[in-house]
Amino acid sequence: MLPNKKALELIKIYMKKDFTSKNLNELTKKLIELDLLIKTEDGTFTVRSEDPEELMHSRVGALKEGIEKFAIPSKIEDIKNPKILDLCSGMGYNAVSALHYNINSEIDIVEYSKEMLFLSLALDIPIKEHLLVKNAISEFFKGITDEKIRIFNEDARITLLRKDLKKYNCVFHDAFSPANDPVLYTVDFLKLIYENMDDSGVLISYSSSIPFRSALVECGFVISEGPSVGRKRGATLAYKNPNEIQKSEIKRIPESDERLIALSSVGVPFYDKNLNLNSSEIIKNREIERVNLKNLLGNKCYSTTKIKSGKIDEKLLKIQKENLNSSEIIKKMNKIYFEN
Ligand SMILES: C[S@@+](CC[C@H](N)C(=O)[O-])C[C@H]1O[C@@H](n2cnc3c(N)ncnc32)[C@H](O)[C@@H]1O
Repeated sequence: MLPNKKALELIKIYMKKDFTSKNLNELTKKLIELDLLIKTEDGTFTVRSEDPEELMHSRVGALKEGIEKFAIPSKIEDIKNPKILDLCSGMGYNAVSALHYNINSEIDIVEYSKEMLFLSLALDIPIKEHLLVKNAISEFFKGITDEKIRIFNEDARITLLRKDLKKYNCVFHDAFSPANDPVLYTVDFLKLIYENMDDSGVLISYSSSIPFRSALVECGFVISEGPSVGRKRGATLAYKNPNEIQKSEIKRIPESDERLIALSSVGVPFYDKNLNLNSSEIIKNREIERVNLKNLLGNKCYSTTKIKSGKIDEKLLKIQKENLNSSEIIKKMNKIYFEN
């Protein structure tokens, strides 16, 4: 999925003009007048997406999200020269926030839309590190590569197959919602991220979707409930191989979600084996998998209402009382349920 079409068309017109502050100011003024660039509660701006119901950020604040959902939970302050993969970078709020918390961050920005990168040049994110990101974007438009802030203007599925990637300490995963656009939430894509992470690396996403968390568990991540900035549900932190400090900070996801992932067809993840399917194909294939799973389980299949309320076999419920993290519980419940 992409940002709003009308916004992209208008930005394209300005990309052909000189990059002067007069033109950039005129662009933001027009986008605001057309209600395509929206002021969030912290005063920073976000853009509408193709889906009129979905903005690129939550209304509590585009910058607030970058800071509270991504930069702070990543703990990059404590890492010497953190290597960050900023997926779906958009206007760069998460990259700017990361640099604010650790000026020595090396960031690989991945963004499909050239227009969103350009729009960053027209905005004034009120943190001085925005200048560093703006500088890297300006160089990108001149065909120059900034070594500290590299920009990959392509589908993230292509980027993850590159041979010149780093071992990332932190991956910011900020795609549109999986219900609308599951392309970057598939087991196959997340596996590539896993392989390109440092051993103590962490992936952070605002999404708490059940198939997404299920895919993370299948890839080998240890999942943890993250902060819920501007949303009802918490974000997701996913550790590759948590060290002792990380282990002590891992928080279980809601128990009903653990059961849904382990025991129901809601937990069937998205797949994209050759990394070339579009959203509707991925969604359709998952629906088929869900039906297959229900048929396989036959009358052993619990309703989601029963699973959510915990009206299931005591043997399975007992696993949730063990001193394990959510990923371990999900795997154990799933194994016992399908073996019997
Ligand atoms: C929710 S917004 C992210 C907002 C962004 N982090 C920011 O600070 O402005 C999602 C972004 O992902 C981009 N996108 C969508 N699909 C993509 C893909 N397959 N690969 C790379 N970028 C993608 C969109 O163009 C959009 O800018």
